[in-house]
Formats: sequence, C-alpha cells, structure tokens
Amino acid sequence: MTKKSGTLLSNPDRNLALELVRATEAAAIRAVSFIGKGDKLAADGAAVDAMRKFLGTVDFDGLVVIGEGEKDNAPMLFNGEHVGTGKGPVCDIAVDPIDGTSLTAAGRQNAISMIAVSDRGSMLDASSVFYMDKIVTGAEGVGVVDIRQPIGENIRALAKAKGKSVSDIVVAVLDRPRHAGLIDEIRAAGAGTRVMLDGDVAGGINAALYGTRVDMCAGVGGSPEGVATACAIKALGGHIQTILYPQSDEERQRGIDAGLKFDYVYEADELVSSDNTFFVATGVTDGELVGGVRRLGPIIRTESIVLRSRSGTIRRVSADHLAAKWMD
Ligand code: FBP
Repeated sequence: MTKKSGTLLSNPDRNLALELVRATEAAAIRAVSFIGKGDKLAADGAAVDAMRKFLGTVDFDGLVVIGEGEKDNAPMLFNGEHVGTGKGPVCDIAVDPIDGTSLTAAGRQNAISMIAVSDRGSMLDASSVFYMDKIVTGAEGVGVVDIRQPIGENIRALAKAKGKSVSDIVVAVLDRPRHAGLIDEIRAAGAGTRVMLDGDVAGGINAALYGTRVDMCAGVGGSPEGVATACAIKALGGHIQTILYPQSDEERQRGIDAGLKFDYVYEADELVSSDNTFFVATGVTDGELVGGVRRLGPIIRTESIVLRSRSGTIRRVSADHLAAKWMD
C-alpha cells in the first residue's frame, strides 16, 4: 500500500474497510437463517459463500493468510487463496466468516463475522499451532500489563493506570476447563469476570474499546483469532501480547519447523508488523461489540464496526437492507 504523509485533512485517502464491511454484512445476513438451528457447518458455509462473493468485488489483491483452513479441506477462503479484483493495494487478509459458529448454531449471543487486513507479508502465520495465550487491554495497558506477570498484578496495574478500583475491573475469559485457575485468580484479586462461551476476538476488542464493560481479555484461544485481534488492537492503539500454547510435542515441533518461537512473548508488532491495518466486524447475533442481524418488516438491519489504524477511526455502521434484494 502507498504511504501518505501529512494530516488526514491534507491527504485523505481510501478506507478499504468501508468496502470490506459489505462482505461481513453479507456473511452475517446469510448466516441468519441458521441461527439456533443446530447446524454450525451450514451456518459457516453460508457465511463463507456470501463473504467470498462480496470480497470478489473489492479492488485489492488480498492473500488469505488466515482463512477456513487448508485448500483440500476448505473449498473457499482457504489459506493461500487470492481474493479481491487483484487491482489496488497488496494485502494480507484474515477472515472468519463467523467467529462463534457454535454460538450461532445454538442461538446464543456474541457471534460476529469479521475481516482483518494489513500490508502483504505483515501477518504472522501461526497456523501450525492451534492456540495462543493472550492478554488484551486498551491503551492504558501499554507498558503496564505484561503477560509474564501473574494476572492479579496485571489487574492491579491496569486498575491504577485507568484510575479505577480493582473491584471495578472486569476480565473477559473463555469458559473452558483450562481457565478454571485463571478465573479463580481473577476473582481472588478482587476483579470481576466476563465468562464467554466463545468469541475471544469480540472479547479482546471490547477490552480495548472505550465505553464497554470489559477492561481486559485474558486466556488461551485460537491463534488465528489472536492475529486478527492484533489488527484491531493496532487500529485502536490498545495492548496485546500472546504466547504460543502448543498441545503436544508434535505441534510444538511443527511450529518450530514453521519458524515460530515458543516460550516467547509475541508483541503486537510481531503479530502484525504493519502499522497499516483494517478491521471490520458485523454482528451475527447480539453482543456488546455489535448488535446482531435484525428483521424489521421489509428491512434487514445490520450493525458493524469498522477500524482503521492510519486514520485512527472507529466507525459504527448501521445499515438497512431491503430484504427482498436478499431473496434467492
Ligand atoms: P469458531 O467459531 O471458529 O469455532 O471459534 C470460536 C472460538 O471461541 C474463538 O473465538 C476462540 O479463539 C476459539 O474458539 C477457542 O477455541 P476452543 O473452543 O477450542 O477453546
């Protein structure tokens, strides 16, 4: 992508994410008829198909670095696939047509459709290791919160930096048996937990945004989700650190062979080395980050968030779509 200098006013340029939001809107709208129907693969398939069609209309050369998996298992949006018209900026792209496929299938809250973009070659390919330990906060956590420290110390340090009392700090954590000790430690420190069934991308972004009820997101979640979250956190000026969390010696070795580092803290700039990042998410089901898709008579209403690092913009996009235009 070309670098622009000067202020935004003297040098305004294109915000790619404002075009990409159509792809997450389409994925969310397509997923709607699968909410609560118990079939997460069908929901994901519909969202993938819609996202791919809309990505094909956008002028950019996107290389899917984080997608639906390897080519043979994932017919569309597979890692290594090129998306977009091929004209314009040359980018890496991470897609998750639904983060929260189980939430969608069960009719639960907090499922989103999301896309993250950065300059080509700048996203860490951590696909050989399934999980990462992560810690995410807003800007107040930069230089204050450190994933190597006990969670209680991080909570106290963040509370001080935010000028809040520890008892007002809320930490989002995925509801997994592996987090039983972490949840106990958070509560023992005097802070509250937001225990999430799924969806730690939205959890991380909520931690970094102003005006939410979450101050920190901590614990082990998907590596692809960690890299995508880093694109959003860079756009928000927040704080993210991760440590790879292999589940076996074989997985660790695969990671080493792929050039990944273990027992090592990946800072935001190593997860995504470019400072030119975009992130867009549309709600599938209702959540604190974005509301879910709603049917209002002849209208389908979507809610999205659109982030861009270079301009530092956080846009909330509410769109009404004529339902008749979405009938097959
Ligand atoms: P999917 O919708 O792709 O299943 O991901 C949901 C999710 O909760 C992610 O947000 C999170 O990073 C990951 O799964 C955690 O993995 P696991 O469910 O194996 O603990």
